[in-house]
Amino acid sequence: MAKTKTQFVCQQCGRVAARQMGRCPQCGTFNSMVEQIVAEPARPGARVPLSGARSTPKTLRQIEGDTDARWAVPIHEFSRVLGGGIVPGSLVLVGGDPGIGKSTLLLQAAACLAAGGRRVLYVSGEESPEQVRLRADRLGEPPADLLLLCETDLEAVLAAADRVKPQALVVDSIQTLARADLEGGPGSVTQVRECGLGLLGFAKEAGVAVFLVGHVTKDGAVAGPRVLEHMVDAVLYLEGERYQHYRVLRAAKNRFGSTHELGVFEMGERGLSEVANPSAAFLSDARGGSPGAAVVASLEGSRPLLVELQALVSSSPYATPQRVSSGFDGRRLAVLLAVLERRVGLRLGHHDVFVSVAGGLTLDEPGVDLGVALAVASSFRSRPVRAATVVMGEVSLAGEVRRVMRLPDRVREAVHLGFARAAVPESQAQEAASLGVETVAVAGVRDACERLLEPRAVEDEAEVPGGTGAREPRA
Ligand code: TYD
Ligand code: MG
Repeated sequence: MAKTKTQFVCQQCGRVAARQMGRCPQCGTFNSMVEQIVAEPARPGARVPLSGARSTPKTLRQIEGDTDARWAVPIHEFSRVLGGGIVPGSLVLVGGDPGIGKSTLLLQAAACLAAGGRRVLYVSGEESPEQVRLRADRLGEPPADLLLLCETDLEAVLAAADRVKPQALVVDSIQTLARADLEGGPGSVTQVRECGLGLLGFAKEAGVAVFLVGHVTKDGAVAGPRVLEHMVDAVLYLEGERYQHYRVLRAAKNRFGSTHELGVFEMGERGLSEVANPSAAFLSDARGGSPGAAVVASLEGSRPLLVELQALVSSSPYATPQRVSSGFDGRRLAVLLAVLERRVGLRLGHHDVFVSVAGGLTLDEPGVDLGVALAVASSFRSRPVRAATVVMGEVSLAGEVRRVMRLPDRVREAVHLGFARAAVPESQAQEAASLGVETVAVAGVRDACERLLEPRAVEDEAEVPGGTGAREPRA
């Protein structure tokens, strides 16, 4: 090969272009096109060939669909997010920030599977065998027959897997794996894609459940993400605040189950443990009493979760006040603030508004709208939300409170956790009352503010008399 041909490859989505471009025409990412040498045009396409038998079309009925062939993992939270267990022959990507606990989770899952009599191969490209052993020791007595391989070459991994014939294979991480015959170092989009495809072929052909660990870049995506997300059967994200101990496992894509399921774990001295009662975990110990706090019942997949929200409204030193929210969509917050301004008459225009969800959880379900609006109103007026009250309802632009899905499930969970009162949409009041909870039927946000906030304003501790001008107006 005399002449070197080059091409430009987007490191986000894998789009190939003949010339340099500032912005990828496919995924719109800026400065993501990287020049690569085209070594032999045929090579990048060469992938693990599927066997001839698979190329014969069959009718659906001829295919033995063993839908119950899932392996239950004793880690129920993990099992549930996967859709009820591990499907043989599936390829699952587990993404998350560095240090969040991906290796820990998968090593624990691998150990559980091995302890249950499955043949499991754990491949680490990031750590030495001693490091993995140390971690395993920390997590408890490692099962005798969990196989470990520290390797970064795809061919070597596949060869080893062919030899030991595992039922499950963990690759930690896909970014450290490379094919020697391809251009680009480990982690480049070509390598990530080709290694992903190689493992996909292996998973489907050998009927092995393959788990890939993928690191998330600063902008929140798995490096070379789009290329992987398309080919895998499920994408799970392990999330949480690094300095808090709760970890939430969530499915962003799942060909074998719902994407709304959520698994809650706690990182402790001996790895991740399941949180048996996540609702209790996301409620702070001080139940109510302080302005700006509200408890909502959010529906996360098949189960309701009680979560505490906090809002802080304070007069802004800036011409453009700040609106910062963590764990709740910023645009949705803007809508709720506009509703509070126009329909309730709260003058929030010169105030900074901060909203945060307890435990590093992210809420994106309309049923929590009313809780957010109420928390903001509560902080603004320095009037706490009535004690032991759980709030549910979607807020419309007109300021009405709309129905929520599966209200009884939410109310039951609240009762179970000792909440005496539930604020619910007017149209669902009867349904809620029949469940034995004191029901406050609210028609609109204004109504909710009048009936759910304590009549008396309390002094915030920080508001030292004679302090700065950051005093909040009283209603
Ligand atoms: P790790 O699984 O290595 O993260 P990732 O693979 O996502 O990069 O987890 C690393 C963090 O977890 C590290 O900060 C230490 C902490 N940890 C514990 O707190 N307890 C434990 O038992 C283990 C194994 C790790
Ligand atoms: Mg790791």
